[in-house]
Amino acid sequence: MQASRIAGTGRYLPAEILTNEALAQRVATSDEWIVTRTGIRQRHIAAEGETTSDLALHASREAIAAAGMTAADIDLVIVATATPDMIFPATACILQDKLGIRRGGAAFDIGAVCSGFVYALAIADKMVASGAARNALVVGAEIYSRILDWNDRGTCVLFGDGAGAVVLVPSASPGILTSHLHADGSHREILCVPGQVHNGKVTGTPFLHMDGSAVFKFAVKVLADVANEALSATNMLAEDIDWVIPHQANIRIMDATMKKLHLPHERLIVTVDIHGNTSAASIPMALDIAVRDGRIREGQHLMLLGVGGGFTWGSVFLRW
Ligand code: ACO
Repeated sequence: MQASRIAGTGRYLPAEILTNEALAQRVATSDEWIVTRTGIRQRHIAAEGETTSDLALHASREAIAAAGMTAADIDLVIVATATPDMIFPATACILQDKLGIRRGGAAFDIGAVCSGFVYALAIADKMVASGAARNALVVGAEIYSRILDWNDRGTCVLFGDGAGAVVLVPSASPGILTSHLHADGSHREILCVPGQVHNGKVTGTPFLHMDGSAVFKFAVKVLADVANEALSATNMLAEDIDWVIPHQANIRIMDATMKKLHLPHERLIVTVDIHGNTSAASIPMALDIAVRDGRIREGQHLMLLGVGGGFTWGSVFLRW
């Protein structure tokens, strides 16, 4: 069996920046509270009329160009999102059309919330490595600003909009070394958007609900566990990891995970300060930033760790 590797990365953040100070004019919060509790300093907000597939398109074009390809080379499109353009068709199909791909291979969305990118990458790896697909575009794209209650200071300060993308290609040697995906739906109520469309009306609550401390405890435990699972599967040690790229939810969750792995803060890629929690988009954006600024170098080992609503969690361990 062949393996797969990432050949290009890209990202996109909408132009409008909402700083903590500006947010503090709207709800009873402060820059100090948000920074100490979460590490977030600002988030980007999609413009009226801008859609998740628009954000995905910008990030995808960058990733495809970085891979030295054109959209015509892509035969699998997976979009991880919890904020799709519409109920159906899949945002991946809309993105595929916007990229100008006609009669392409499979295009579908993954609904694993903040673990979505890790889920999508793991699936794309299996498809590329088996020959079921050749060149895969894997995207995380979100517009959380539209599912937040902007009067709820407990949640609205945490999230932002953005998109990140990678192109995955076949490779004689990995690339992606191992991936591990998990879920436990019995914890679904601690992080959810419990609304639905019913007979033409929205029923339930179409805004994000979160039990912050339950999420915190759950996330720290499973992120370290699933990183260790990847290390066991590859007979490697935590000290072999050059960079940990976790879901960018909250700096305290990330730091606690590093502590559990006995790894120094210096090996953590942190971008949550500049874009907040962008759910499925956060890992590919953090990856792209660290690739483009030269921190990530050939031959290094990267541990991608996702956790999110469902509850879902997973790891993808790879050699760059
Ligand atoms: N500004 C100021 N005060 C606030 C704010 C705010 N934005 N939000 C809550 N508070 C207040 C509360 O009302 C409470 O006040 P009280 O003591 O008078 O009742 C006080 O701050 C403490 O509230 P807690 O919820 O206990 O604050 P905590 O220290 O637990 O921090 C936080 C809250 C940051 C949400 C924390 O629980 C956390 O980090 N949880 C993880 C959740 C997370 O990161 N979710 C992201 C999505 S999950 C994911 O992506 C996997």
